[in-house]
Amino acid sequence: MRRWLKLDLNEMPYSPPENLIRAAEQGLRSLNRYADTDALQRLAVLLAQYTGVRREKIVIAPGSDLLLREIVLCFAGRRKVVMASPTFLPTASVARRFARKFVSIRLSRPEFTLAREPLLEELDEPSLVILDNPNNPTGRLVLDRELVELILARPDTLLVVDEAYFEFSGLSFAGMVEAHANLALTRTLDKAFGLAGVRVGYMIAGEAFFDTFCPSIAFLPQPSLQAATEALLHPDYMWKNVQRIMEEREKLSRELEILEARVYPSSTNFLLLRSKIPDLVEELTDRGILVMDVSRQLGAGFIRLSVGTPDENEEFVRIFREIKRQATGQENTYEYSAG
Ligand SMILES: Cc1ncc(COP(=O)(O)O)c(C=O)c1O
Repeated sequence: MRRWLKLDLNEMPYSPPENLIRAAEQGLRSLNRYADTDALQRLAVLLAQYTGVRREKIVIAPGSDLLLREIVLCFAGRRKVVMASPTFLPTASVARRFARKFVSIRLSRPEFTLAREPLLEELDEPSLVILDNPNNPTGRLVLDRELVELILARPDTLLVVDEAYFEFSGLSFAGMVEAHANLALTRTLDKAFGLAGVRVGYMIAGEAFFDTFCPSIAFLPQPSLQAATEALLHPDYMWKNVQRIMEEREKLSRELEILEARVYPSSTNFLLLRSKIPDLVEELTDRGILVMDVSRQLGAGFIRLSVGTPDENEEFVRIFREIKRQATGQENTYEYSAG
């Protein structure tokens, strides 16, 4: 099987530590049973402690994408759904298909900011606003507290903030959920906690969501439940990795700018970049590197890549330089220094 350098899905490049693997193995011993409800309760309590909200506000699900889908299916039939463009595509496509009405607000170039007025003007009928903050694929924070308050103040409006990359951005609206029934946040352990193979997402939800929302999807696979619990008992490993990724992100960004790619500031574990190199995605794939082609959403030359380990980033820069040299015939003598 070909060895790919996988920089396409915004995963954490560091493997799980031994204690997590042992916890997941423990879960394998109970595969004949549905997850124990006491153990699920314990995970919910740990998530409540981690996020600083009451346990009653937490809904657990196998992946936050399924939660977002469930939210759309529960609420969008009677509401206008308002999202940004670009955004996390799976949520947008289910909303486009099932919402009574679907509106996307284009993020403004060149910095991909979210314009307030066009968004607020749309909230003139029962609405469900879903915004990823930071945004995927631009990596930008598009919401601040003031805008969140303005949205929440609109009559019959529900706001869902997708905080999949919260640990990298450091900005959360979790503290507002108690006071605002119409606010919910979705989060995941798949990104910063490095548990994409475990698939644990959760929602921190205001009261309005519990009227209709069906929390019965909370049964997790046994290994997922055990690994997630162990990860939350020892979050230091995650925070250390987040720190490493953020340092690498800034370094990688500088190296790519030197190679004349336009790199956008990021509050996540990935970078959006634009390059003039023709067929860049194909060239990278031919050399064993997978990145996300976002040109259909953003235009020619845009790609999104996850920040990897220092060695992976070094390899990416080396290959990027090689492709650029071939494409332009230029020599670039700059050396990337790993570590
Ligand atoms: C913005 C955003 N939201 C949600 C998700 C879904 O995350 P998961 O289903 O792994 O919890 C992703 C995954 O890439 C994402 O980028």
